[in-house]
Amino acid sequence: MHDERLDVRVTGESAARETAPAITFDAISKSFTRPGGKPLEVLRRVGFVVPRGTVVAILGPSGCGKSTLLNMAAGLIAPDAGSVAVMGRDIAAGTVDWSRVGYMFQDDRLLPWRSARQNVALALEAGTMPSRERIARADAAIDLVELAGFAGAYPHELSGGMRSRVALARSLVGEPTILLMDEPFSRLDAQTRSAMHRELLRIQALRQMTILFVTHEIEEAVVLADQIVVMAPRPGRIRTEVAVTIPQPRIGAAATTALVNELRQSLGEAEPAPENHP
Ligand SMILES: Nc1ncnc2c1ncn2[C@@H]1O[C@H](COP(=O)(O)OP(=O)(O)OP(=O)(O)O)[C@@H](O)[C@H]1O
Ligand SMILES: [Mg+2]
Repeated sequence: MHDERLDVRVTGESAARETAPAITFDAISKSFTRPGGKPLEVLRRVGFVVPRGTVVAILGPSGCGKSTLLNMAAGLIAPDAGSVAVMGRDIAAGTVDWSRVGYMFQDDRLLPWRSARQNVALALEAGTMPSRERIARADAAIDLVELAGFAGAYPHELSGGMRSRVALARSLVGEPTILLMDEPFSRLDAQTRSAMHRELLRIQALRQMTILFVTHEIEEAVVLADQIVVMAPRPGRIRTEVAVTIPQPRIGAAATTALVNELRQSLGEAEPAPENHP
């Protein structure tokens, strides 16, 4: 017998998925216990959403659980309580399409014995794609991060900024709709970091990706993000959420400096040197 109520429910569920945020953290709590140790409460009832097509920054002090949250969004760690959904699918249900989620780790994790091209192609090796196509896609991703001409170079032949670009290419080669980034540019000098910021914004506009990234740097959050989730020290909780509406390009804009200073003050960081007082 055909049950119409079931049809309505199923259609309703898939429609809800199509409009669901890219990532939803709902009342996440997590403790870690090391052998012989007491449980360490790392996250306490953390909830926020990452709308599709937006860039969201998680900003907070060391140890407040930022990487743990990112690992949860990648399905690598399960929460003790609460739930995480990716594109409207609860991670616990095992139905998330992980091929559309890219992860750029804090360290570049490049294999020294593989060329830039082979390192990027590695991200496609789990699938059934023929090797020629993997290489073609790796080369396209290398072009996208403006490293054309260096596809055959080995990691030791590349600068820190170039290695970051290779890592970025590797996280983009699967054409993710969601990109997770854990302090991706923290080890770069200021100038290279700004170049990477411009690069990332260019690619994000081109691909319409959703990006969730972790940073210690207020300025990096303000330059890149539409929304900043500010966390309190362990046990990690959300302190505040800040929407950033300054139009791009934000690098060097007066409004950017003003918001960075305002956030520094409200988050209790050292104030910048006073400007000319009349
Ligand atoms: N697998 C684990 N087992 C035990 N403890 C862990 C584990 N992973 C993380 N922790 C602990 O949880 C806390 C939060 O770790 P996490 O890496 O999420 O912090 P973070 O905010 O990313 O810090 P940082 O800014 O220094 O990278 C830390 O105190 C860490 O020691
Ligand atoms: Mg971390």
